[in-house]
Amino acid sequence: MFKIGPIELDRPVVLAPMEDVSDIPFRQICKERGADLVYTEFTNVEAISRNVPRAIHKIRVTEDERPVAIQLYGSNGESLERAAEIASALGPDFIDINCGCWVKKVAGRGDGAGLLRDLKRFEFVVQSVMRGTRLPVTVKTRLGWDEGSFVIEEVARMLAANGVQALTVHCRTRCQGYEGRADWSWLPRIKEAAPDLPLLANGDIVTPEDVAEVLRLGADGAMIGRGAIENPWIFGQAKHFLATGEHLPAPSHEDRIELCLRHLKDNAAYRGEERGVTSFRKFYAYYLKGMTDSSRVRISLMAHTQVAPIEEALRGYLAVLGERVGA
Ligand SMILES: Cc1cc2nc3c(=O)[nH]c(=O)nc-3n(C[C@H](O)[C@H](O)[C@H](O)COP(=O)(O)O)c2cc1C
Repeated sequence: MFKIGPIELDRPVVLAPMEDVSDIPFRQICKERGADLVYTEFTNVEAISRNVPRAIHKIRVTEDERPVAIQLYGSNGESLERAAEIASALGPDFIDINCGCWVKKVAGRGDGAGLLRDLKRFEFVVQSVMRGTRLPVTVKTRLGWDEGSFVIEEVARMLAANGVQALTVHCRTRCQGYEGRADWSWLPRIKEAAPDLPLLANGDIVTPEDVAEVLRLGADGAMIGRGAIENPWIFGQAKHFLATGEHLPAPSHEDRIELCLRHLKDNAAYRGEERGVTSFRKFYAYYLKGMTDSSRVRISLMAHTQVAPIEEALRGYLAVLGERVGA
C-alpha cells in the first residue's frame, strides 16, 4: 500500500508535475481518467514567498482533484519555509519538493537536480520546507548528477531519516536530461536502501505493461508524464490491466477529438479565450497523432485565436474521418 499521511492508495498511477501542462484543466482530465494522484507545476519559492500573483495562481488546487500536491523548488531556507507556509494555506494534501529539474537555469544554480551535488544542502532544503508546514512532505529527484555519482540510495536513506513521506525517482541522471532510456533497474536498490519510504517510479512509463514492470521491480506506484500528454487514458488503461491482465480498447478518433475540444474549452475558460486558445496549440499534435492528414489540419488550427472556428474545423475533420472509415 502506498501511504502519504492519511492518504492510502493501492498501486497508484500518478500524473507527473509538468510545467505549462499539469494545470487545473489537464489535471482534471487525467483525474477523470483514473489518475490516483496529481501535482501542480513546479513553482519557485522566491515568487511564492513574495506572493507574486502568477505564482500563487499556479499552485491553486481544487476540491475535486484530491489527493493533490503542490510542488515547490528553490534552495533559500527562509523562502522555502515561507513558501511552504503559503502553499499549505491553499489546502493541498501534501507538499512535494522538486529536486530533479535538470535545466541549466535551475540546476546550474544549485536548485532542482543541482541538489544532487550537495546532499547537505539537499537535507537543508527538506528541513526548511518541513519547518513551514504540518502537511506531509515528499521529494521528486533523479538518480544522481552524472554517471560518476549515483547518489540515489544515500538520498533515499537521508529522506527517510528526515521523515519525508514518499520519494519519486526519475530514473535518469541530471546530465542525461532526457537522453537514453530511464534505468528502472535502480528501483530494487532504492527500495532496499529505504524499505519504508513509499517509492514512485518515473521515466519512460507509457504502457500498462511498463506500469506493471516498475511495480514488479519494487516501486509502490508509477508516475507518468509525457505518456499522459499523448494518452490521458493511460491511467484507467493501466489500472484495468493491473486488475485483469487485459487491455481496454484504445480510444477512437472521435474520443480523441472530443477530448481535445473539451480540453481546449476548459483551457479557454481557465485562462481567458485568446490566451487559452494560443497556449493550447502544443496539444493538437498529441490529440491528432496518427490520424490521416492531421498535420495539415493542425497547421490550419494554428491560425485561430477563438474556440468556435476550431470546433467547427475539428468537427468537420471528424466527419471526413468518419466517411473514410465508412467508405
Ligand atoms: C513539459 C514538461 C514539463 C515538466 N515540468 C516539470 C515540473 O514542473 N516538475 C517536475 O518535477 N518535473 C517536471 N517535468 C519532468 C516530469 O515530471 C518527468 O519527471 C519526466 O518527464 C520523465 O517522465 P516521463 O518519461 O513519464 O515524461 C516536466 C516534463 C515535461 C515533459
